[in-house]
Amino acid sequence: MEPLSTNNSHAALIGVGAFLPPRRISNEDLAERMDTTDEWITTRTGIRARHWADPGIATSDLAVEAGHRALKSARLTAEPGAVDAVVLATTTPDHPCPATAPQVAARLGLGTAAAYDVAAVCTGFLYALATASAQIVAGHARRVLVIGAETYSTLLNPADRTTNVIFGDGAGAVVLEATSEADRPGVLLGVDLGSDGTRHTLITVAAGGSRQRSTPGAPDPDAHYFAMDGKKVFAQAVTRMAGSCAKVLERVGWTTDEVDHLVGHQANLRILHALSRQLGVPQRRAVVHLDQVGNTSAASVPLALADAAGRGTLGVGDRVLLTAFGGGLTWGAAALRWPDVVPA
Ligand code: COA
Repeated sequence: MEPLSTNNSHAALIGVGAFLPPRRISNEDLAERMDTTDEWITTRTGIRARHWADPGIATSDLAVEAGHRALKSARLTAEPGAVDAVVLATTTPDHPCPATAPQVAARLGLGTAAAYDVAAVCTGFLYALATASAQIVAGHARRVLVIGAETYSTLLNPADRTTNVIFGDGAGAVVLEATSEADRPGVLLGVDLGSDGTRHTLITVAAGGSRQRSTPGAPDPDAHYFAMDGKKVFAQAVTRMAGSCAKVLERVGWTTDEVDHLVGHQANLRILHALSRQLGVPQRRAVVHLDQVGNTSAASVPLALADAAGRGTLGVGDRVLLTAFGGGLTWGAAALRWPDVVPA
């Protein structure tokens, strides 16, 4: 099948970058603070460490670093006109209002580029990639910087060991550019997005929005923390990501045998293994990065991509299948052949 295009313009990935805050929290560090063990965390999740931003560091700080590195990887100078838009996927914006992306664009020196946030929790990066690609295909933008950045450590309830062991902070970014060459490696070949709002209560931060307002002295401080129903989320994650991948594979005309690298949302190693099994993609082709960073939500897919590209795992022309799942519920998948791109 032909790549997505209406006017002979395709969106190609030309740069990738990543940034992790320096403070590394090992499983042993967590075991000193709460009732958990390295053995439980490793066997149930595959996670060995995560990075948490120091107090005072916000999502935009991580996003600027990753964005800067992606621009450098694309051999672009961060200056006005370098990109036409900045799309930031995040569930942990600097403030409820305004969006974080305009500040990121300004701090990167990108002038008055369009800039907006996308909120699709752990699927955020794929939603952002899809909207950025659509802008290019429609002819509204020539280059777009797409960033996934999160500081989930700011949402964690110190009394909830389940979420504390899973989530980490970080940022990953890519640059998309218009091209008329449909066969060029990097061209986004197919995308699938989906949602199921009937299950919106499975992953929540209950308070702070218009439903349950943030009032000083509110009776339930826990309502401001991130909460999830881990078991139900686990089952949905596998089913939804597998379904979305199958749709994209059909759209682009690849068999599962032809997938060289499965870059799934880095939530839990058992989820990645179950996804490989369900899809019929050998486990060795699944990119694993969560052992070092945990679940970084919207940053997860671009961080895993940058890590795999940096290690030389992704060869030029390799078939790469991206997929993610998150609160909403939301999910998505996308396919591309890896371009000649390494992180800066
Ligand atoms: N350390 C030690 N024990 C823990 C623990 C921790 N950090 N967290 C939970 N436990 C305990 C539970 O209290 C429970 O004890 P009990 O049997 O005495 O009641 C036991 O471990 C098993 O808990 P359970 O919830 O059944 O574990 P699980 O195998 O389902 O794993 C998750 C829990 C959260 C790791 C798993 O459900 C998961 O990964 N879900 C998906 C989460 C996710 O990816 N969310 C984001 C999606 S975008």
